[in-house]
Amino acid sequence: MRMTKAKSFIGLDVGTHSIKAVEMTWTNGPVITGFGYAELPSPDAVPETVLELLRTHDFHSRRVVTSVSGKSVIVRYLTMFKMSPDDLRNAIRYEADKYIPFDVDEVVLDCQPFDVDGIGNVGSNEMRVLLVACKRAIIDEQLRVLATAGLHPELVDVDVFALGNAFELAVGVNPEAGGRVSALVDVGATKTSVNLMRAGVSLFTREIHTGGTAFTTAIANRLSLKHGEAEMLKRQPGEELERVRQAVAPAVDDLAAEVRLSFEYFENQFELGIDEVLLSGGGSRLTGLDQDLGRIFDRPTLAWDPTGDFPIAAGSVDVDQLNMHVPELAVAVGLASRVQKHR
Ligand SMILES: Nc1ncnc2c1ncn2[C@@H]1O[C@H](COP(=O)(O)OP(=O)(O)OP(=O)(O)O)[C@@H](O)[C@H]1O
Ligand SMILES: [Mg+2]
Repeated sequence: MRMTKAKSFIGLDVGTHSIKAVEMTWTNGPVITGFGYAELPSPDAVPETVLELLRTHDFHSRRVVTSVSGKSVIVRYLTMFKMSPDDLRNAIRYEADKYIPFDVDEVVLDCQPFDVDGIGNVGSNEMRVLLVACKRAIIDEQLRVLATAGLHPELVDVDVFALGNAFELAVGVNPEAGGRVSALVDVGATKTSVNLMRAGVSLFTREIHTGGTAFTTAIANRLSLKHGEAEMLKRQPGEELERVRQAVAPAVDDLAAEVRLSFEYFENQFELGIDEVLLSGGGSRLTGLDQDLGRIFDRPTLAWDPTGDFPIAAGSVDVDQLNMHVPELAVAVGLASRVQKHR
């Protein structure tokens, strides 16, 4: 039997609320060989929280894939004339100037042509191109933090693409449902990532700047509570469930309205319907959110498990803790599998 050398990567998702690290090791298939979760005590505590998390959990690799997100990251889907990869690389800098609100010299650019199977008004001499730009300063800061923690960065991805990546890996593409459109909606603390996937291709992405923190604020304001009290009540409403649901409803409606704009844009642009809405992210744990969004979107809306049925190395992973945080792990799983997938 041929022995394949195991390769391990840590997917490190640094959110605004929590840090998640998932290590996946590939031999014949992926195995989860490391896991850590930590809430951030304050926004500027990232370096020490990452260090502490690595120190207190069992990881085998120092090779890490992280992500960026937020307003310093620009994602655009362009239609361009067909050209060679070299020509595209040259053309994209000029193209980028039109779409990016920053100086092109201040950003790191990446682009990738992709196949949309003739949908979305693409002529036979044209191709769709995904353009991603991130302010160089943001990436440099990430890399500095990782280096301080003794980690070796392999790649920097974008949250919303890692989400799609995890979905492909954990759920896969059912050939019989090839044309099915799944809307991945990851509700974090301060942002919600939307990725509309069809047959393993991400056709549309968007980041919405609201999430679980806005839910807590709504509860605090409506019920005259301190932020910490509202946060506790949100997580464990007990007998107060009805009051909490009413208090949070306007914030849920705001989020749903933004997501719906993306759905409508997509459905017009591609003339495709969205078949299902799949929720992840800590914010999606809000009691009843799946039902409320399902009613608003009028589509099946449910949570999915980004840890799929990957084997877990119980010797180095606290399986109970992992199971407690499954909804939050989509981005980290997507990052951990990123390098392997593109080999
Ligand atoms: N049991 C729960 N019920 C409701 N909300 C919860 C629960 N547990 C966590 N949350 C919320 O989940 C959010 C954090 O989710 P997550 O860890 O995915 O965010 P993040 O990745 O750090 O943030 P972002 O991606 O926005 O930077 C917080 O708003 C928190 O209040
Ligand atoms: Mg997040």
